Amino acid sequence: MLLPFFSSVVFPVFSLFFPEYTPSSSPSARSELHFELRHSHAVTSAAHVYFSNVGRSNPLRAERQPAFTLRSKDIKTYKPLSAAAYVDARKRSIYRAESEVLHWDEEEVPGPDVESRESLLMLARMTSNAYNEPDSKEWYDLEGNYILNDPIGWKPDADGFRGYVFATPDNSTVILSIKGTSAWVSGGGPTTTKDKINDNLLFSCCCARVDWTWTTVCDCHRGGWKCDQECVEQSLVDDSLFYPIGTNLYNNLTYMYPNANIWLTGHSLGGALASLLGVTFGAPVVAFESPGEKMAAQRLHLPSPPSLQHITHVYHTADPIPMGTCTGVLSSCAIGGFALESSCHLGKVIRYDTVSNLSWSVNFRTHSIVRVIEDILSVPWAPAMLEGREVPEARPQDDCVECYRWEYGNFTK
Ligand SMILES: *[C@@H]1O[C@H](CO)[C@@H](O)[C@H](O)[C@H]1NC(C)=O
Ligand SMILES: *[C@@H]1O[C@H](CO)[C@@H](O)[C@H](O)[C@H]1NC(C)=O
Ligand SMILES: *[C@@H]1O[C@H](CO)[C@@H](O)[C@H](O)[C@H]1NC(C)=O
Repeated sequence: MLLPFFSSVVFPVFSLFFPEYTPSSSPSARSELHFELRHSHAVTSAAHVYFSNVGRSNPLRAERQPAFTLRSKDIKTYKPLSAAAYVDARKRSIYRAESEVLHWDEEEVPGPDVESRESLLMLARMTSNAYNEPDSKEWYDLEGNYILNDPIGWKPDADGFRGYVFATPDNSTVILSIKGTSAWVSGGGPTTTKDKINDNLLFSCCCARVDWTWTTVCDCHRGGWKCDQECVEQSLVDDSLFYPIGTNLYNNLTYMYPNANIWLTGHSLGGALASLLGVTFGAPVVAFESPGEKMAAQRLHLPSPPSLQHITHVYHTADPIPMGTCTGVLSSCAIGGFALESSCHLGKVIRYDTVSNLSWSVNFRTHSIVRVIEDILSVPWAPAMLEGREVPEARPQDDCVECYRWEYGNFTK
């Protein structure tokens, strides 16, 4: 069922409280945007996306300015001229190994200002909240006193993606936050199993074949370091619900907010999903501590726009997951059952060198979004400030190599 809680009483309440707020008509090069929490989203069984309205436990507090403030900056994105042409190009690539020239529409849209530390910090908090309910002590209170009206998909036994939808009072800009894999955050929880299969399909070199003791997530290993390319692609396209759920989520959101600019943010697996959706729909993305998703984009045959400047990754060097170094039989990832071997990211990377600059040692515990918020983004970053910036410069990962031991090809079983 589509949007089952869409018509609850929350929207009239909101419009009562923000009648006088008039946004700047067309955002100039840089401007400030205020966001309020609107919905939670979650995926239930059968890959259905549910949106549920978020209310306020104390409506009087809503009279204040909405508390999520972000700087925006115009950026260039590319959107496929038609969604049908995109799907068609992808299908031809998957099923007939034909690539066709897809036409892209270049557009200038307001995106998050990724050179602003405060804006990255705010997005990181929105992302962190995707793990939590508003009444939990981990929730970053952004002054709203929010409550979940109908926490479907948020029960402890719920599985899969979830997060929140934030919007400006005039609905011109909407942010979708997506949570990552729970296991790294608080030692597990029931969403772990499905997340793990998805992670291993998407971010391992060959079906999570770490050594002979591993149960692989697909059957493409052909002995030694040989891996059947067509097979890994097929298993990702066929077996991973990850990308199709994401596209449903995005489509449902554009249905609710037909005229909005949509921004995507997420942590870890949620960040990787945000990025793949950003490639597909030309939406600005800020992904935190995401494992390399470039290989997954190729294996999923996502048509690639002329530029991916609208996708920004933020991670730090002591986190082995985005660095692609949490590998090998004895690594903490492998012990936890994760084979996260990819290291190449799409778009640009803002890399905090916590190993050199803060003397952190490499440890998967630094992967947590809370560490990123509290220990990296909440304070000025001295190495960047020496260069006159607030955050390290965003750069593409040129000449990135991953899975170099593996040979991919057409091997018989
Ligand atoms: C919303 O998502 C559902 C799957 O959960 C999909 O069947 C439906 O077509 C989507 N609706 C829109 C308007 O895209
Ligand atoms: C914004 O979107 C919501 C639906 O989520 C709608 O109820 C509300 O009227 C819209 N507000 C404006 C100013 O368009
Ligand atoms: C931070 O680390 C980089 C190496 O990544 C080094 O070049 C730079 O000098 C360091 N800056 C500070 C202030 O420690």
